[in-house]
Amino acid sequence: MVSAAGTFDFVVAANRLPVDRVVEADGSAHWQTSPGGLVSAMDPVMQGRRAAWVGWAGDPTDEIAPFDRDGIRLHPLMLTVTEIQDYYEGFSNETLWPLYHDVIVPPRYRRRWWAAYERINTRFAEAVADLAAPGATVWIHDYQLQLVPSMLRAARPDLRIGWFNHIPFPPVELFGQLPWGRSVLRGLLGADFLGFQRTNDAGNFMRACHQLLGTTSTGDVVSWAGADDDLLGAEPRRVRTGAVPISIDFTSMDELAREPAVRHRAAEIRASLGDPQTVLLGVDRLDYTKGIRHRLRAISELFADGEITTPDVTLLQIATPSRERVRAYQELRSQIDGQVGRINGDFSGIGASAVHYLHHSYPREEMAALYLAADVLLVTPLRDGMNLVAKEYAASRWDGGGALVLSEFTGAAQELSQAFLCNPHDIVGLKQTILRAMREDPAALRKRMLAMRRRVRTHDVHAWARRYLDALEAAPGKPSRG
Ligand code: G6P
Repeated sequence: MVSAAGTFDFVVAANRLPVDRVVEADGSAHWQTSPGGLVSAMDPVMQGRRAAWVGWAGDPTDEIAPFDRDGIRLHPLMLTVTEIQDYYEGFSNETLWPLYHDVIVPPRYRRRWWAAYERINTRFAEAVADLAAPGATVWIHDYQLQLVPSMLRAARPDLRIGWFNHIPFPPVELFGQLPWGRSVLRGLLGADFLGFQRTNDAGNFMRACHQLLGTTSTGDVVSWAGADDDLLGAEPRRVRTGAVPISIDFTSMDELAREPAVRHRAAEIRASLGDPQTVLLGVDRLDYTKGIRHRLRAISELFADGEITTPDVTLLQIATPSRERVRAYQELRSQIDGQVGRINGDFSGIGASAVHYLHHSYPREEMAALYLAADVLLVTPLRDGMNLVAKEYAASRWDGGGALVLSEFTGAAQELSQAFLCNPHDIVGLKQTILRAMREDPAALRKRMLAMRRRVRTHDVHAWARRYLDALEAAPGKPSRG
């Protein structure tokens, strides 16, 4: 792969574009900014530079030409139905996702999926190589694109290449299962800087490199001695790693939650729930990593024990549809449907549901109102790279109200130590923690919430992007800038 240089100084590569294609009933289509945090993080970094973003356009459609939006060149990559099945649903979400999340469901290792992953990573690398100006900075995101750093370096050694992992990096005892693990590590080592959510994730990566590739490390720098390698080439490499925990746009969430319409909506939500004394809230993508079943189990037992009763207490569980064609997600959905049905059958009264379960996604305004309406937010993943819902909750609670129950298996737990931390596998402990959060004195709750807000305010998504890019700039092995 040899490319002529393009004209963009800053190029982002992520599995998804920062926009979604919306097709109206009359067949017309337009682009809408995606709700995700990555878009708001990248925007200030990209403004004022010649910037481009390479990503999958979403649904299988005909070829879409690159286009400009808000001064940024968007470069859609199209995937066929088979490529979506093999690269996205298969290797990314049935192999890597469960493997990197502690094997909560068994990962599936299929050679055909791996071949598709290699091919699609090559396409991303080629597109970036064509767009990037000489000496440009490239920021690659997440587990779907782990081979892109080395593929890109082979084509464009002049580039400064960073990669950030939004999800956990597993211990080598688990990572070692992956039949193509060595290739993944060699794919990543093409970067100048590899960013992770937690120090432990960076440590797991370095240990995997040491055990599977025989690299050495000094401090946070991994050294590859050089070998006759098809991905990495023969030259020795020094690659910096580090923990740069991602965050949210605190100011915009805080401002949104202060808007009169949002506050009014929060009161309306509580009223439509029957004005209970305590509203418990869960907000998750419908994913087996999120610990929704464990949470429902704890809630069900609290009702059974008589510790909580309707109509005083209700759980509002929002589960955003996700990866609906992947079997484990379909199974999870029917398990949760069953659990919610049983809890409501056993413990609801007329007009007083024990659990309100909504399988939808909601706009930001509604999310802010939900956060304001909740007395206790339950964030109980079995494993989560960060969990931005926890940070959004803190940013929304300008009133100092609310309590956060937070799993210690989230990246967020390392920063939000004033939350009510829990181990979601320990149902007895989880029940006690939920009760403690519900019964805590308001002044003590306020102190906790203000401390969490301070943390998220001073470590927002803009600070994250700056820290990341500074680390990338300072990484060793600086390429010669032509
Ligand atoms: C996680 C991943 C992202 C992914 C998102 C939604 O946050 O880290 O890379 O985009 O989930 O999942 P989806 O498969 O719909 O893109």
